Formats: sequence, C-alpha cells, structure tokens
Amino acid sequence: MNDRLEKHLRESAGFIDALLASAEQSDASALAIRRQAEVPESTQKFIAQFSTPLPPATQKLIDDFVESGTQLAQLTDSIIKTHFGSALLDFGLARDTAYLENAKAKYLGKAGAVTELLKGMAQLSPEEKKTRGAEINRAKDAIEVALKVRRESLAAQALNKQLAAESIDVTLPGRGRGVGGIHPVIKTWQRCEEIFGSIGFDVADGPEIEADWYNFTALNNPPNHPARSMQDTFYVDMNGTDGLPLLLRTHTSPMQVRYAKMHANDLSSKGTPIKVIAPGRTYRVDSDATHSPMFHQIEGLWIDENISFADLKGVYTDFLRRFFETDALQVRFRPSYFPFTEPSAEIDMKFDSGPLKGRWLEISGSGQVHPSVVKNFGLDPERFIGFAFGSGLERLTMLKHGIGDLRLFFEGDLRFLKQFA
Ligand code: DAH
Repeated sequence: MNDRLEKHLRESAGFIDALLASAEQSDASALAIRRQAEVPESTQKFIAQFSTPLPPATQKLIDDFVESGTQLAQLTDSIIKTHFGSALLDFGLARDTAYLENAKAKYLGKAGAVTELLKGMAQLSPEEKKTRGAEINRAKDAIEVALKVRRESLAAQALNKQLAAESIDVTLPGRGRGVGGIHPVIKTWQRCEEIFGSIGFDVADGPEIEADWYNFTALNNPPNHPARSMQDTFYVDMNGTDGLPLLLRTHTSPMQVRYAKMHANDLSSKGTPIKVIAPGRTYRVDSDATHSPMFHQIEGLWIDENISFADLKGVYTDFLRRFFETDALQVRFRPSYFPFTEPSAEIDMKFDSGPLKGRWLEISGSGQVHPSVVKNFGLDPERFIGFAFGSGLERLTMLKHGIGDLRLFFEGDLRFLKQFA
C-alpha cells in the first residue's frame, strides 16, 4: 500500500468505521437485506442520498447495491473492507459526475486502491493468493456496482432537475391578454359608415394599388397635367394594362369612378341613384406632424338627375353635426380647385363652443362632379349631375378629440390608444 493511499484511509477512518458498523449489522440480517424496509437505518440513509423515485433500472441497481452491502460484511480483510467502505462513501458524497469520475479513478484507476491491492498480492503464497484474490475481486465487483448506481442516480437527479425547471404548471392562472380596442381612426371610419348609411349611402371598398387611369386620368387629371403634381405619388414597380405604372392610390376618389362605372347602368335604365361612400387607406410621399405616408380618407358621391350643391351642403352639414355630436357648429363652402369637380369647394367648419371654438377649420374637399368625370362614369353629363367630397379620417378624429399630432395614430403607443378603447 502506498503512502498516498494510507493517508487517504486515515483521513476517512471516522466515516469508514460508521459504514463498517452498518455493514456488520447488515450481515446479521443478510438474507432479509434485499427488502429495503429491513435494511438498517444507516444503510437506508446512505441509499436515501440517491434520488427517489427512481426508474426501474436504477432501482435494480440499488438492489444490487444493497446486496453488495452483504458482500462487504462477508469481507474478512479489514484493509479491503476499508477500501470498499471508503469507495462507497466517496461515491455517496459525489454531487456531480466530475466528482464521481474522480472518485472512481481513486479506487479503480491505474494507481487506484483496488489496483494497488491486486499488485500487492505478488509476494503472497498461492494459498493466500486464492482467498485474498477472491476477496479483492468481490470488493472490486461491489465497488463497480456502487459506481454504476451512483452514476445512474446522478443522471436521474440531473434529469429531474431539468424537468422541474422546464415544467409548466398548467394550474397557474393565465396572464391574460387584456381587452383589445378599436383604433380611434377606425372608430371614425365606423361612425362615418353609420351616419351615411343611415341616410341611404352604400359603402364601397376598392384596391389600394390602383391604375393610373382611375387615380388620375378618369378624374380629369390627364398625363402631364400640372394638377398631378398636387399629389406626390408612390409608384409600384409594375405596369397596369394601359402600360402605365401602377401606383398606391393617392386619394379615395378613384372609387368614385370604379363604383359609378359599375352602377351606371342601374342609374340610366332603372333610375337607381349612385349614392356611396368609400372609406379606405390612401398613400402619399409625405411625412410630418400633419402628414403621414399612409392615411385614411372617406370619399362620398351622389349622382342622380338633379342632385345639387344644396344637397351637398345639407348632407355634409348634417354629417358634421352628428359626427361631432353638436348642432353648435357652422359650415362654410370656400371656393377651391380640384380637377374632378366644377365648381369645387373646401368645406370649413367652426365650433361655437369647446376648445376649438371660433376658429374656421378645414375639413374636406368637395364639389359638383365635373362633366368629363361623369362621362368617364359611363353616364350622360347632360342628364346626370351630383356632388362628391373627400375628407381625411385622421383630420376628423383629431378635431373630435383635440389631438395635435397625427403621428400618434401610427406609433402604437398604448398610453395614447387606450384613451379611446
Ligand atoms: N381627392 C381629394 C384629395 O385627396 C379630395 C377631394 C376633393 C375629393 C374634392 C372629392 C372632391 O371627392 O369632390 O385631396
């Protein structure tokens, strides 16, 4: 036995005594020892260090381990017993694989205790070799079993730990998703549909990627006409059937043409008026506190045989009073220019009370639909006449709630949005 080993044995002497005592006890009940209930308390404690519950394979190893306790008791050589006990103790102390593999090297490695014992047999007589050899081998087998058990139990512990860390407690109450709300601009959109719907306007929806003809030409904006530069247009990298680039609609006015063309026949032959609103998204190359590259408009169109500017005044004034929920507002029609209306007017409004009281506020473009546009609807401009308007939904919303910066609508800040939910 080398010095290192002796030192180690001396150091672990206290533990080993206790272990040996328990092993000797086990010996007294060697036959019953397989049943864990009858394993002496100290041995049970030792085994209890291994995690429970264990998978069946590990349980089997534990049984083997318990049996190895009886083997320990059968060992007669106290040095071998000591090594065996010390090994069991080391393995039991192992809290991780690295420690355990180190402990293994201490007993079963090239310079390990068991190896040393086997080497030490060289000087013995053949008779002694036989008994001592058998004894050492028994101890070695038992140490190997104990090692296997500890390996399994450490792996099971690691797995249990991981499972516990990753487990989901399905009984915990949910975090909740909160209640969603409708965006203030969409609320305005919906309110407009309600108000115009209540006085017989149909609601139409159309493409946001639009052909040049619908967005400009049909609305009296021929190619190269200077009025086109009134709106900065996003173009799409693809041509329409007319060979001109498609674009993101710069206003909802193309919906006048789309809807009127589809219903022109009903008007000419059956006398069904064209009376529609078309709310939707629109796009322009523009971005500041009052302009966003994407914004919303609502288009209105009423065409029949005798729809006049007076009808526009009546309809739009009524709309504003209902939208702002007050009769205390005034409306004026200020001459303006749009290529698709003649005459054209800017609609201004003024509150008689509230924080915006007394200021004329621009609210919408409007006018009597230009005869050329009526023709593009597929209708006879000598016979059919009417009005159109186009208003910004953000503008309406800002005036209604006193919002100063248009960008708030698009930032998705819940502190802002929640005020309207
Ligand atoms: N389309 C115009 C714009 O975006 C607004 C407009 C003005 C629409 C007059 C109309 C109208 O229908 O009659 O600036």
